[in-house]
Amino acid sequence: MAQTNLYSRVLGTGSYLPDERVTNQELADRLAKQGVETSDEWIVARTGIHARHFAAANQTTSDLALVASQRAIEAAGIDPQSIDLIIVATSTPDFVFPSTACLLQNKLGIKNNGAAFDVQAVCSGFAYGIATADSFIRSGMNRTALVIGAETFSRILDFKDRTTCVLFGDGAGAVILQASEEPGVLSSALHADGSHSDILCTPGNVNGGVIEGSAFLHMDGQAVFKLAVNVLEKVALEALDKARLTPDDIDWLIPHQANIRIMQSTARKLHLPAERMVVTVGEHGNTSAASIPLALDVAVRDGRIKRGDHLLIEGVGGGFTWGASVIRY
Ligand code: UT7
Repeated sequence: MAQTNLYSRVLGTGSYLPDERVTNQELADRLAKQGVETSDEWIVARTGIHARHFAAANQTTSDLALVASQRAIEAAGIDPQSIDLIIVATSTPDFVFPSTACLLQNKLGIKNNGAAFDVQAVCSGFAYGIATADSFIRSGMNRTALVIGAETFSRILDFKDRTTCVLFGDGAGAVILQASEEPGVLSSALHADGSHSDILCTPGNVNGGVIEGSAFLHMDGQAVFKLAVNVLEKVALEALDKARLTPDDIDWLIPHQANIRIMQSTARKLHLPAERMVVTVGEHGNTSAASIPLALDVAVRDGRIKRGDHLLIEGVGGGFTWGASVIRY
């Protein structure tokens, strides 16, 4: 039975970007060698992206998640053995199975047999993960959760397709949520509409030892753009309404970092000044499920986000999925 005065509070955040930073110009030079034409000007003007990070050949999603998690655990000041719920939001898992969450649990040396599973909601994955962990904690089922967004999208990019390969990057972000009587996650709203599954997808599967379909990311950018600007404002207002707050109460908007134009449009619709939005898309690119926790950690560590601040996270992604949460930090 859920206790009404029980919240999940953010105890600490962490993030990790792989070492290799690739600027637009470097990427354009690499692509030109295989006859694919793009430019720094086009990428910056259409997306706001200047650079992204790519994982090393021997780095997997759970490796990225491990470092982000260790940093979040250190910031939270908790014993990792007390973590009884691990949720990894990813669309680029290490394997078909076991889940990246189970692999991460083992890498963290956690032996307490708490629950560990992956959430698959593409770029909305972290919002789905926070809502899930918060529900588990408030129901009394779990006490301390590690929620991670981690991706190696570079592995599913078709570097012959300039309409997608310039947009994405790799990285991981993590938060520790713990049961508390002090307010933390105040509300969440999640949605999906599977009728749009074809506009952003990696439509491949493994059958008889071979990949059937395509293992590359495909996107109808304009269709995604239109849906995104339509649903993000609505889901943000829905989460705010559930928390009995208005956009005026929000100190920091932390959107999924896909495209600066989508982010600015949502901020404008919510009447939130640009200075109250955390923007990392320029340096990270679109890191899918990792983008919100990466941005959150950047703004916590540089001192912008302070205890007691009201945060609004929101994201949209393949599926089609979208979601938002209001959090008192
Ligand atoms: O994370 C999940 C959510 N994903 C998103 O939110 C992505 C949403 N979509 C977008 O961000 C934008 O639609 C894109 C950034 C993907 C594309 O921007 P756009 O303003 O919609 O451009 P467009 O697709 O209309 O393409 C405009 C032109 C085309 O040329 P023509 O037909 O006008 O001659 C493209 O072929 O830009 C061309 N183009 C490029 N040119 C140089 C497409 N990609 C590139 C490129 N470099 N990389």
